[in-house]
Amino acid sequence: MENFSEDIDDIDDVEDVDARIEKKVTERLRRYDKEYKIRVKDTRDFQIMEEVFDKTSLLTLNDLMNEKNLSYLNGVINSGKEARVYWGVKNDGTSVAVKIYLVVSSEFRKRLIYIEGDPRFKNITKNNRKLIELWTRKEYRNLLTAYNNGINVPKPLAIKRNVLIMEFIGEDGYHAELLVNVKRVIDKDYNTIISYVKKLYRKAHIIHADLSEFNIFKYRNKLIIFDFGSGVHIAHPLAKSFLERDLNNINHFFSKRGINTQPTEKLLLELIGQ
Ligand SMILES: Nc1ncnc2c1ncn2[C@@H]1O[C@H](COP(=O)(O)OP(=O)(O)O)[C@@H](O)[C@H]1O
Ligand SMILES: [Mg+2]
Repeated sequence: MENFSEDIDDIDDVEDVDARIEKKVTERLRRYDKEYKIRVKDTRDFQIMEEVFDKTSLLTLNDLMNEKNLSYLNGVINSGKEARVYWGVKNDGTSVAVKIYLVVSSEFRKRLIYIEGDPRFKNITKNNRKLIELWTRKEYRNLLTAYNNGINVPKPLAIKRNVLIMEFIGEDGYHAELLVNVKRVIDKDYNTIISYVKKLYRKAHIIHADLSEFNIFKYRNKLIIFDFGSGVHIAHPLAKSFLERDLNNINHFFSKRGINTQPTEKLLLELIGQ
């Protein structure tokens, strides 16, 4: 496992952020306003949008803008329990997905027992904000490792504190179709996902640990796996049960859709060998 603690910047200066900077950032973020109003269905969405930009997130977005990793935000794509995903635009006009983590998942908290006591994570586990950064970095690292090993995932582009910027999968701000919504799935889809799971395990040494039809896009006839925050290294003490759950989810989805699946036990045996 990598030494995450070293990668986390000193963020104590966040508290001193100048109110003027905040105003400037807010103004820049409002550039999406016109477009955004067309896209939102009711005003509750707008309130959610306002809530997300806490001081740290504002400052982080501003940094990412100054570093030319982002030009402006163009509206919310998804508001989840732990993170919100925005459609962002870069200076050159290309779309990006901007994932802003807000809370640490309960799953991650459960896994803290494997982090606590490890000197590499000293002082991190008690600080909620740092935990969120750790979680964000974990997703970035997992995406990068998967990407570098040739697995179809959104290309990770930048990370700062609790904000992750990655390749946008979709068009004109509309994300690609999720596997769960694909009307007709075929054998090839199943085989592709199983080959990704194997490649992730054997080459990237990662288990996704939250794999399901909700975290897979089908786009231009390709399957793309995303949402890697829960991903663990294959040496994780719970690796086998995470892998088993991933395989069960995939098998369950595809067999419901009439596809002949391979027994989870057989796949587990092939991968883990026990
Ligand atoms: N790279 C991306 N490109 C386009 N849309 C994305 C991208 N990543 C996530 N999304 C959208 O945001 C939603 C939530 O993203 P996800 O990473 O699954 O977060 P969560 O942890 O909330 O499940 C996805 O279902 C999809 O609609
Ligand atoms: Mg998800």
